[in-house]
Amino acid sequence: MVLKTHGEIDLMDAANGLVHRVLDGIEKRIAPGVTTADLDRYAEETIRAAGAVPAFLNYRGYPATLCTSVNDVIVHGIPAAQELAEGDIVGVDCGVLYQGYYGDAARSFAVGEVAGEARNLLEVTREALELAVRQVRPNGHLSDIGHAVQEHVEAGGFSVVREFVGHGIGTALHEDPQVPNFGHSGRGPRLQPGLVLAIEPMVNAGSAGVRIDPDGWTARTADGSLSAHFEFSVAVTESGARVLGIGEARA
Ligand code: MF3
Ligand code: CO
Repeated sequence: MVLKTHGEIDLMDAANGLVHRVLDGIEKRIAPGVTTADLDRYAEETIRAAGAVPAFLNYRGYPATLCTSVNDVIVHGIPAAQELAEGDIVGVDCGVLYQGYYGDAARSFAVGEVAGEARNLLEVTREALELAVRQVRPNGHLSDIGHAVQEHVEAGGFSVVREFVGHGIGTALHEDPQVPNFGHSGRGPRLQPGLVLAIEPMVNAGSAGVRIDPDGWTARTADGSLSAHFEFSVAVTESGARVLGIGEARA
């Protein structure tokens, strides 16, 4: 695991600040009739205008700036000419490389009015991320993060995806350690100040299974149920956690 200095964490805060600025702009633009390709164009222009580079574009051949994951798509949906419709939910994942450091965050949004189950799924997944962040502290166990996510998600009647995990982040998009969204508490490596983790619960309304489309990227729920995804990049600090890019430190 690579530990970052205070100066490096400030740079990662700036990279994630740009990611959250993009996600704020997307939140304002999301409406019935908007295409995911429209959102991708906005994101790429905003990132390049800030002097940064889209982190996902060309990563292992990925063809876009954003991942836009509609309804039963869990993650890695590819932006397309498809229009968002009232009642959809859409996960938007954005990564940037800025001044040598990566930022990575995701939010899931409702398009107009959505059904009660969809609203509940979004809320439980967002809460799971918040609870995960509360486990981040020096000397805490890495596995406490996944345990907190799994407990909250399953108490809400939903299931946690096993095939994709969070990750360390820094001068590479994916660094050690892996950060699963499930598991027992009190296990595995201890968290140390300077470690930066991308924590990203992916939650299915039905069963946990995943199916990949023939495009090799689009990951869907095997049972066709809805799925939601939220992600923060979080630094372990001497006093607790700092969620990067949102102008907030948490003890
Ligand atoms: N947030 C995801 C991750 O960190 C997004 C990766 S999309 C990819 O794994 F295209 F870059 F693979
Ligand atoms: Co990530």
